[in-house]
Amino acid sequence: MTRKLFVTTALPYANAPFHIGHMMEYIQADIWVRFQRMVGSEVHFVCADDAHGAPIMIAAEKAGLTPQAFVAQIAAARQQYLAGFHIGFDNWHSTDAPENHELAQDIYRALRKHGLIAERTIEQFYDPVKGMFLPDRYIKGECPKCGAKDQYGDNCENCGAVYAPTDLKHPYSTLSGATPVMKSSEHYFFQLSSSRCVDFLKEWTNTPGRLQPEVLNKIKEWFATDELGHVGLNDWDISRDTPYFGIEIPDAPGKYFYVWLDAPVGYLASLKNLLDRQGAGFDAFMADPDVEQIHFIGKDIITFHTLFWPAMLHFSGRKVPNHIFVHGFLQLSGEKMSKSRGTGISPLKYLELGMNAEWMRYYIATKLSSKVEDIDFNPDDFMARVNSDLVGKYINIASRAAGFLTKRFGGVLSADLGVEGRVLLDGLRAHRADIEVLYEEREFGKALRETLLLADRVNEYVDQNKPWELAKLVGQEAVLHDVCSVCIEAFRLLTIYLKPVLPVLAAQVEAFLRIEPLRFADAARALGAHTIGGYQHLMQRVDAKQLEALLEPAQIELPPPGGEPIAPEIKVDDFAKIDLRIAKIVECSAVEGSTKLLRLTLDVGEGRMRNVFSGIQSAYEPAQLVGKFTVMVANLAPRKMKFGISEGMVLAASHADGKTHEAVDPGLYILEPWPGAKAGMRVR
Ligand code: 2FM
Ligand code: ZN
Repeated sequence: MTRKLFVTTALPYANAPFHIGHMMEYIQADIWVRFQRMVGSEVHFVCADDAHGAPIMIAAEKAGLTPQAFVAQIAAARQQYLAGFHIGFDNWHSTDAPENHELAQDIYRALRKHGLIAERTIEQFYDPVKGMFLPDRYIKGECPKCGAKDQYGDNCENCGAVYAPTDLKHPYSTLSGATPVMKSSEHYFFQLSSSRCVDFLKEWTNTPGRLQPEVLNKIKEWFATDELGHVGLNDWDISRDTPYFGIEIPDAPGKYFYVWLDAPVGYLASLKNLLDRQGAGFDAFMADPDVEQIHFIGKDIITFHTLFWPAMLHFSGRKVPNHIFVHGFLQLSGEKMSKSRGTGISPLKYLELGMNAEWMRYYIATKLSSKVEDIDFNPDDFMARVNSDLVGKYINIASRAAGFLTKRFGGVLSADLGVEGRVLLDGLRAHRADIEVLYEEREFGKALRETLLLADRVNEYVDQNKPWELAKLVGQEAVLHDVCSVCIEAFRLLTIYLKPVLPVLAAQVEAFLRIEPLRFADAARALGAHTIGGYQHLMQRVDAKQLEALLEPAQIELPPPGGEPIAPEIKVDDFAKIDLRIAKIVECSAVEGSTKLLRLTLDVGEGRMRNVFSGIQSAYEPAQLVGKFTVMVANLAPRKMKFGISEGMVLAASHADGKTHEAVDPGLYILEPWPGAKAGMRVR
């Protein structure tokens, strides 16, 4: 019977372009899907942008765009990555699409009908200036333990203390700088702690073969009683108050679903969108008990996919996931990639450097297994695997045999192949079942190792039979013909085993061999006296220079200090022309008719007072300044202004644009000497 598979990868947040970690997940899932298709399964492979949530709403606001326009901009850039790495999704959709609004609301209504939604009043930090409840990540303050400033609401980067946002001293909203206030509001909870949910989840998670053993172990911890005697699962807060970019909760004005509620529903929405466009029925498809639903995800989002999501589906009367396939993270030479340090692999740069996407697919595949372990991108290893194994062992087989066949035998293969050749090929064929199992189990590294060992056997056969010598001998035509034909047949078999990983290369091979698209079942038959096309080089080796360029740390663009570049160089004589003096602010008052200026009466030790206008009204109350010392340019030509003559200039620090950059920042700071400086002292 044909297997029917509904396969997804995690939906990426629509606030940034893809990073290499996304590509790894897509490559893993794509290889599995291509394998499934090669063994006759019917697959629907979909993804979408995860569009909602506070961070995206805030990022859009910063960019001066509506959230919809912001998300659309990110979505428009997806295709170049997907096409570039040959990721064959059948559909790319968005969680903000109408299908998702409808499905998320339907699921919620069903949960409510089953009595699994509770309403509770909770207290939360609220930003009175922004007029919104603050997610923890937007609250900073002083560490309650060590007093370090500007610490996030969950832990201190300075002393490592862990605490709640409400424990912070002098908390402030990073969005407005305002001091948050506690405010209560009604929230909706999905009652995961109910015995119905717990019982279902225990059964679902423990179904044999559903989850990887490591994942199941983690989950057992969640069901267990913790050190504080707290039993099992908590109810899940699924609502957020307006303003929020999300899906409205039915019958609850001003309330939206928390992004993690509607995100996985996006899997269904993307599939529905695909099936609707194909004129196929989504409901019928999902009602088919034979359909297997499979989600590929990273290890950081296990909870959402093994607790919340299956429970949402089950209690809304829908099909539950058959498998959650979890992978680890991709590291670079044993270290976490870091955007801020500029280290890492940019998928777009990889493509722009003209590097072959199938090198990356192959390399990542050699590292992948069914385990939840981190995998490492090691540049030397990358070169070795691609150049020595893929090109050196596999591609070479074709290039060593094809020339003779075309030149000497008109491209027609021998049907006989000789005893030794037939034994070799039968040996290759015998591994098909094994390799199929390895692909099925996502043991791609093992599948490739096994395939490359087969390539070794073929190369040994070539080395023993030496076609280049046979070609020089008289009367050895038939042997030469057999040997080269064996090579081509072996190459075809190896191509079948590699095709899930190398789909473009396989298509080139199919064109070269003049054969139909290869499937695993094609390993059973032989080409016989078939005519192949001319050989053209199939794959370049990796150039070390490309790899070097790829890994060169990205130039992180630092903004100029204070918002403006340092001015052109001057000589010390130029500086000496400016006479800076300590001035005492004797009097200070607002200037009537001006919103910017303060009038300062300054003593520079000359036995007379100077009158100076300064544009610092926005930052200081006149009374704050009286009696203070500051620094002034004392030899500036007097300037006639609307309000009188200004006899100099006081020095103040500001951003280049003169604007306030944080809420707690007046944007202007006049200079003040250390205590002890006297009016009239020169500053040099
Ligand atoms: O962690 C993330 O990047 C989420 N955007 C994944 C969502 S997966 C699914 F639930 F949509
Ligand atoms: Zn601290």
